[in-house]
Amino acid sequence: MRKMTEKNLKEAFAGESQAHMKYAIFAEKAEEDGLKNVARLFRAISFAELVHAKNHLKALGQMGDSMDNLQTAIDGETYEVEEMYPAFRAVADLQNERGAQQSINYALQAEKVHAGMYQSAKQAVASGSDIKIGAIYICKKCGYTVEGEAPKRCPICGAPSAEFKEF
Ligand code: FE2
Ligand code: FE2
Ligand code: FE2
Repeated sequence: MRKMTEKNLKEAFAGESQAHMKYAIFAEKAEEDGLKNVARLFRAISFAELVHAKNHLKALGQMGDSMDNLQTAIDGETYEVEEMYPAFRAVADLQNERGAQQSINYALQAEKVHAGMYQSAKQAVASGSDIKIGAIYICKKCGYTVEGEAPKRCPICGAPSAEFKEF
């Protein structure tokens, strides 16, 4: 692919990804505000942006098989935990940015288990089977991720077990 087209597709992928995420988050807010149809509109258009992001990713040649995709996920999670968030946290500390300190810390702590979970999945897929995994619980407040059952209190943010979403 020509350089400029590749750059444009990457930019479009980033923009569509952010729109998808923002609209999904805005839908939650509209739901809280009792605006059911506004929430539905946000969710619908969020899905359209997901379709656009997916098409751009495929056009970029970044859609692999599940083994490739698991490795991409492992690399991304490892980068976040080992380099990106520790560096971002250091800057937030330096600048005494409280909101950023909390959101970065929640992410840094919660991300720590993701690479390992993907690694186990990759090993299973490499040996020709799907991963054997129980229920996965995610804390709605900080993203803490755990297999099996939700803890009474989130070890990262202290949220009660009712605040966990099951997958
Ligand atoms: Fe779009
Ligand atoms: Fe993660
Ligand atoms: Fe939490």
